Amino acid sequence: MLNWDEYNTEETQVAPAIKNTMPEASKQAEPVAQPESVTDTAPVTIGAGSRAEAARKAMETFDASEGVKELDEMHNGRVQVDDKAMINCKADLNQLVPFKYDWAWQKYLDGSANHWMPQEVNMTADIALWKSEDGLTDDERTIVKRNLGFFSTADSLVANNLVLALYRLVTNPECRQYILRQSLEEAIHTHAYQYCIESLGMDEGEIFNMYREIPSVAKKAAWGLKYTQQISDPTFQTGTTETDKQLLRNLIAFYCVLEGIFFYCGFTQILSMGRRNKMTGTAEQFQYILRDESMHVNFGIDVINQIKIENPHLWDEEMKNEAAQMILEGTELEIQYARDTMPRGVLGMNASMMEEYLQFIANRRLTQIGLEEEFKGATNPFPWMSEIMDLRKEKNFFETRVIEYQTGGALNWE
Ligand SMILES: [Fe+2]
Ligand SMILES: [Fe+2]
Repeated sequence: MLNWDEYNTEETQVAPAIKNTMPEASKQAEPVAQPESVTDTAPVTIGAGSRAEAARKAMETFDASEGVKELDEMHNGRVQVDDKAMINCKADLNQLVPFKYDWAWQKYLDGSANHWMPQEVNMTADIALWKSEDGLTDDERTIVKRNLGFFSTADSLVANNLVLALYRLVTNPECRQYILRQSLEEAIHTHAYQYCIESLGMDEGEIFNMYREIPSVAKKAAWGLKYTQQISDPTFQTGTTETDKQLLRNLIAFYCVLEGIFFYCGFTQILSMGRRNKMTGTAEQFQYILRDESMHVNFGIDVINQIKIENPHLWDEEMKNEAAQMILEGTELEIQYARDTMPRGVLGMNASMMEEYLQFIANRRLTQIGLEEEFKGATNPFPWMSEIMDLRKEKNFFETRVIEYQTGGALNWE
């Protein structure tokens, strides 16, 4: 097994060799400097009629002016800041600058600065604990399995929604740049869950099919899928009040509910396990994921609010009621999931504490998009969750002050 000393030794031995080869490598463009192994390979003779010759001839006569003309007709030439819009924009979407939506670009930079990979997390202790007879209670095992079952497919649902539905309809390059970043992060999250499932030697068929077979998991997945289906038809276009509202519904379903509510019971359960020194590798993976997810939610909230500013007619009473109903439906499904995964008290928490936490989260999602709180007086029974997410420093573009969450609570597990 390698240790760090060996790794460092090896690195110092290899590094100079790499450095010495660099000048040689840069000379390879000149035929005389090529090493034997390269000059041994005879240059390919391109005979008449070969595919390469045909390609060369085609490019000699290729006229770029037609394509450029088409782009000009579609987009009216150089982009000015005022040409940009969140939806239904006619400006050239290939021109990232000048920036209009700096908050989206900043989130792309912040997300990139937080890049991580699942293999960086040590899973050794989890494997030993999972395989030991008395390491975990049956209730704790259920929690690990249910959550890996839900999340291993939920992040694919989110990624599919981004790539197959949303990307096309959000019409500015700053937001699209973030959506591409988010899509990569969703792939990394799916990878992380797969990595946990494989490391722990779980029954992959059982885990990956929970989103179809376990009712409390299946309901959440089906609820989200309904909103993807509405706008993923390739012929779907925004541009009317009704279709623009459909896009808004999709954003609310995915950012406020799926990523903003459906992840929270599971995250809290697994992170609570980690705080008790159990399944610490899995909990660390979830912690990285949660950090990404809180940024996804903030991005989505900013997108929704910016669309409202640019299209105030969409945010009428009917739409407000519908948005609130969606957030409350999501809260209800997540409470059912909490009851299903915690039929008894476990890890110092129980379903009714989780219910209050979810009501607290629901209030926050409602107010973030300008709606009234529903659950008056709901407080956060898990203030440590806010600390893990760094929520006290959380601030999205439309909030003028840093959020101060409750720091004390009924429980103190530290
Ligand atoms: Fe994710
Ligand atoms: Fe996400």
